[in-house]
Amino acid sequence: MAILSLVLLLLAHIITTSFSLQIHFYSKSCPRAEIIVKQVVQKHFQQDPSVPSGLLRLQFHDCFVRGCDGSILLDSDGHNVAEKNAPPNLTLRTFDVIDDIKAELEKECRGVVSCADILALATRDGVKLSGGAAYALPTGRRDGVVSNVADVHLPSPMISVAEAVAAFLSINLDIVDLTTLLGAHSIGLCHCGFFMDRLYNHKGTGLPDPSIDPTLLTTLLKKCPPHAVTLQNITQDSSVFMNQATTTPFLLDGSSFYHGVLNGMAVLQLDQELAFTDLTNKLAARFVNSPKLFRKQFSKSMVKLGNVGVLTGEEGEVRLNCRRVNSATSSNSSTKV
Ligand code: HEM
Ligand SMILES: *[C@@H]1O[C@H](CO)[C@@H](O)[C@H](O)[C@H]1NC(C)=O
Ligand SMILES: *[C@@H]1O[C@H](CO)[C@@H](O)[C@H](O)[C@H]1NC(C)=O
Repeated sequence: MAILSLVLLLLAHIITTSFSLQIHFYSKSCPRAEIIVKQVVQKHFQQDPSVPSGLLRLQFHDCFVRGCDGSILLDSDGHNVAEKNAPPNLTLRTFDVIDDIKAELEKECRGVVSCADILALATRDGVKLSGGAAYALPTGRRDGVVSNVADVHLPSPMISVAEAVAAFLSINLDIVDLTTLLGAHSIGLCHCGFFMDRLYNHKGTGLPDPSIDPTLLTTLLKKCPPHAVTLQNITQDSSVFMNQATTTPFLLDGSSFYHGVLNGMAVLQLDQELAFTDLTNKLAARFVNSPKLFRKQFSKSMVKLGNVGVLTGEEGEVRLNCRRVNSATSSNSSTKV
C-alpha cells in the first residue's frame, strides 16, 4: 500500500513536471524537423542576407508579448486585431520564411512541429548564418491561440536603460541579457522614423543629440532628411543599417556594435545610452575586446529569451497554419490559453 502511494506520488510528480522544453524534442516525432528548418532558412538567406535580422526581431517580439507562443505570427481576422497589426506593426518581416518552413514541415510530418518552435529554430539558424554561435535550442513549445493588439506594450527605442531593464525584468531577463541581446542590433535595418528626434530635436532642444559622432551625424542627416513620419506610416519610411560602425551590416558581430556604442555611433537612443550607464558600459567594453565572450553570452541569452512564457505539454495547440488558429473561432477569446 505504501509502495503504491509512493508510485502514485512519483507519477504525479512526473506528470506535473515533465512538460518542459527539451533539446531535440522532435527526434522521434519528426526526426528531420531541425534539418528542414535549417535548409529553408539557408535558402532564404542566400537570396537575402537580411533574413536573420528579420527573424531575430520577430522572435523578440513573439517572446516579449504573451511569451514565445507564436502569437506574433497570427493574422488579424474579422473580429480580432492581432499583435502584428499593432499601430506600428513595427515593420516586422520574414513572415514568408516561417510560412515556407511550415509548409515543408507539414509535408514531412503533419501537425507535429509548432509555429513557436519553428520561429525559435529559424532564428537560431539565422544567428549561426550571420556569424553567431551555433547553440542547442530546447524545443517543445506549443502555439497560443490568442493574439491581441491590446497586449502589445513593447519598449520604445527612446526609453532609458533603467526603463529597459525594468521591461526585461518583467520577462525574467536581466541587465546582462538586455545588454547582450541589444547586440542583435549589430545586424539589420532601422527606419529613420525611429531616431529622427536624435537628428533634429533631441529632448526638445531643436538640436541634434550631442552624443552622436559628428561624421555619423552628417551621414544620417543626408540619409534621413527632415520629413514627417508617424508610427502608422513608418513602413514607407527610408531606412539605414542599424550598425553604422561596420562595413559588414549583416554580420552579427559584437565587437563593432559595442565599439560603435562606446564611440557615439549607435543609431537608436537606447543603444547609445548603454555607453552612459554603469555596468552596461563595462560589459560593452568587455564585448569589444572578446568576440568569444559575446558569442557565448548571446547564445545563452537567446536560449533564455526562448524560454519566456512558453506553453508546453497539452497547453495551446500545434497550429497547422502559422497565421491561423486551428479552430478559427477561438482567436478573439483572451480567456483561453
Ligand atoms: C528594449 C529593447 C529593444 C528596443 C527598444 C528595440 C527597438 C528596435 C527598433 C526601433 C528597431 C528598428 C525597426 C525598423 O526600423 O524596422 C529594431 C530593429 C531590430 N531589433 Fe530591436 N529593439 C529591442 C530589443 C531587441 C532584441 C532583444 C532583439 C533580438 C534578440 C532585437 C533585434 C532587432 C533586430 C535584429 C533588428 C533589425 C530588424 C530588421 O533588420 O528588420 N531587438 N529594434
Ligand atoms: C502592417 O500594417 C500595415 C498597415 O496597417 C499593413 O498594410 C501591413 O500589411 C501590416 N504588416 C503586417 C506584417 O501585418
Ligand atoms: C506620414 O504621415 C504624416 C502625418 O500624417 C505625413 O505628414 C507624411 O507625409 C506621411 N509620410 C508618408 C511617407 O506617407
